[in-house]
Amino acid sequence: MAMMRFHLAITSMALLALCTSADYFSANFSYTGPNGPANWGSLSPSFAACSNGKAQSPVDLIKSDIVINKQFKNIARNYLPTNATLVNNKFHIGVHFEGKVGDINVNGKNYSLKQLHWHSPSEHKANGSIHDAELHLVHLTQDLSNITVMAVLYKLGDPDPFISQFQDKLVELGKKKEIAIGTIDFEEINGSSRRYYTYVGSLTTPPCKEGVNWIILGKLRTLSSEQLKLLKAPLKPEFKHNARPLQQMNGRKIEMYYHLHGTHVTPPSKYHK
Ligand SMILES: *[C@@H]1O[C@H](CO)[C@@H](O)[C@H](O)[C@H]1NC(C)=O
Ligand SMILES: *[C@@H]1O[C@H](CO)[C@@H](O)[C@H](O)[C@H]1NC(C)=O
Ligand SMILES: *[C@@H]1O[C@H](CO)[C@@H](O)[C@H](O)[C@H]1NC(C)=O
Ligand SMILES: *[C@@H]1O[C@H](CO)[C@@H](O)[C@H](O)[C@H]1NC(C)=O
Ligand SMILES: *[C@@H]1O[C@H](CO)[C@@H](O)[C@H](O)[C@H]1NC(C)=O
Ligand SMILES: *[C@@H]1O[C@H](CO)[C@@H](O)[C@H](O)[C@H]1NC(C)=O
Repeated sequence: MAMMRFHLAITSMALLALCTSADYFSANFSYTGPNGPANWGSLSPSFAACSNGKAQSPVDLIKSDIVINKQFKNIARNYLPTNATLVNNKFHIGVHFEGKVGDINVNGKNYSLKQLHWHSPSEHKANGSIHDAELHLVHLTQDLSNITVMAVLYKLGDPDPFISQFQDKLVELGKKKEIAIGTIDFEEINGSSRRYYTYVGSLTTPPCKEGVNWIILGKLRTLSSEQLKLLKAPLKPEFKHNARPLQQMNGRKIEMYYHLHGTHVTPPSKYHK
């Protein structure tokens, strides 16, 4: 019991870190120099998992670790148009929400969307490539005990209509920490999630908390080079490249789901090179 309470205390601390701004972090982590990813674990006792953890993220979604799962498990996503705030979190640009944004249902469990943010280049490696950017949609169970992060990978190309909704506001984020952006519509990222990878890993920023359920969507999306530039512009030089290096799998497996019209089909080999 005491053990369990202890575990919950740690979990809520990590969640606090996850849900509030960068002000929470008293220690300074960076992506370069002495406070870079290789040393995150020694910057604070609460960051220990960053160096000791055995189930860390991000990872390479590599063929030898992928198990094709033939069960049909579509992820039901149900996001609503919600008032949102664009936030410069110092180490990445994100969007926070005022009210309920909606939820996803994974294996019968309900996770509510709390915030989203971008990394560039991508943190996860898929189809044999590090892509140009990665969106993380951070979801929590109602009791805040479990985290599911849904990741969307991007390559440069046509503008992403989701980002286009508030792209002009990104320019102002160089001067302000937060900007209200009114209602944003999720229709654009509410699409099909019939092709995806799942595995259990960690937060990719300190405190690198483990037990995070990852869902990486199989469909590569595009964003324009202007959009990518705008997402990086407000960040200081040491955070413009804000992808943590790939972590060891340590025997973990990645499950891949690939369905068309409710039926499992064999994914093209490109997906599990
Ligand atoms: C973090 O960085 C700021 C500014 O460089 C510095 O004032 C502060 O002492 C640093 N905090 C820690 C815990 O290293
Ligand atoms: C968004 O905020 C505006 C101004 O505060 C308010 O009028 C509007 O009803 C809000 N919309 C939603 C969907 O909450
Ligand atoms: C998920 O939980 C929210 C409350 O957080 C609730 O409004 C919603 O109906 C639930 N959805 C499902 C599919 O259970
Ligand atoms: C949280 O997730 C873990 C691993 O996915 C699972 O074992 C546990 O039962 C979950 N707890 C809750 C409250 O959903
Ligand atoms: C998202 O998709 C779900 C299921 O397809 C649908 O019920 C919902 O209305 C969609 N929401 C938006 C904002 O498009
Ligand atoms: C992987 O490759 C397939 C086939 O070319 C493509 O449809 C898919 O979008 C790619 N996904 C990622 C995440 O790179």
